Formats: sequence, structure tokens, C-alpha cells
Amino acid sequence: MSEDEYVLDTPVVRAFVADVRAAIAAAGSPAEACDAIRPRFAELLADPDWLPARYQEGDPGSGMGGGIGQWLLFRAGDRALTLFALVVPPGSRTPIHDHLAWGLVGLYRGTQDEEIYAHDAAGELARTEARALRPGDFYALLPPRDDIHRVRTTSPETSVSLHLLTNDTGCVWRHAFDEGTGEAKPFRSGYVNVACPPG
Ligand SMILES: [Fe+2]
Repeated sequence: MSEDEYVLDTPVVRAFVADVRAAIAAAGSPAEACDAIRPRFAELLADPDWLPARYQEGDPGSGMGGGIGQWLLFRAGDRALTLFALVVPPGSRTPIHDHLAWGLVGLYRGTQDEEIYAHDAAGELARTEARALRPGDFYALLPPRDDIHRVRTTSPETSVSLHLLTNDTGCVWRHAFDEGTGEAKPFRSGYVNVACPPG
């Protein structure tokens, strides 16, 4: 197993990760773990000082398009927990995508419109919900519930969302979905600041 990677190695991140791991270890289910982590995640979203400016910048060479930057902040040695910042420039929008892991996602800066999709009884991909997000808003992803979505930045400033997910989201092969046909395509978003293994 690899070592834990504190890409952003600060006391705030180390304390957050330690608390998250304790919460996961004590929880009987992913839903319970998410509930237990909520207060700490809210604190992180409310703290304006811990995330350096470089992790709040877009990536012109983005694997996701639109100058979207996905910055890895922490990755567990077993790849079963990551914390990353997703930076979406004004007017840019992610593809419709899944995550394939449970965890918490919340808005740190800017505003976003989020559209949630799910497969209906006939297997067709359909939009089930749309919501406007403001800084401090966050939600639990408990796949398959709420696992497929896309976000668009609606603020004149770049939006930054924090993701605490129980896989190596940037490096795993997941799916992007065609808006018109719903067709799933293999999708690996990568990170701006850390390379993924080949494959
Ligand atoms: Fe997402």
C-alpha cells in the first residue's frame, strides 16, 4: 500500500482527515458516517483561510474541459479516501458524470447550478432535480442516490467545491454521459497537480 499523501500538508487538513477517519471507523454505514462528518465538513466550508489560492484556480488544459481544475489535497494510501477541490470558471459546466463512491460535496466559493440525473425504470437517463448552490451548501452522495450530476458556475467568480469521497475520484475510471442520448462513456478526470497511474 502507498503512503498517505497530504498534498496540502497543513494542521487543518491533517486534523480534518483524522476526524473523518475516526467518524468512518465508528459508523455502521456510509449514511451514518456522512452524518457524523457533517459538522466538520461545514467547518471546513466556512473557514476562509485554509485553502491556498493556487488550489482555487482553473486549469486551462483540463481533462474535463472548460478550464475546470480538480486539485488533489489529500489521498489515503489505500486510495479509499480523497479530499479535492473542484474549480469551475464562470459559465463553465462539467460533463454529466458519476463518482462511484459515497462522501460529501459542498460549495466553498461562488455559486453553482446543479442538475441531478438518474436512470428511470426503462433505463433512460433523466434529470430528476435541479438546485442552486451557495457557499456553505453541501450534500451527501450515497450512490446510486445522487451519484450522477453536472454543475455549472453561475457566479461572475470561479466556483470552488470541496469533495470528500471514498475513492480516488480523479484517477478511477468512471462515466460521463451524453446529454442527448444518455450514453455512458469511460471518463477519467485526473487531477491538475498529481498524475494518475497509466491504464
Ligand atoms: Fe461531481
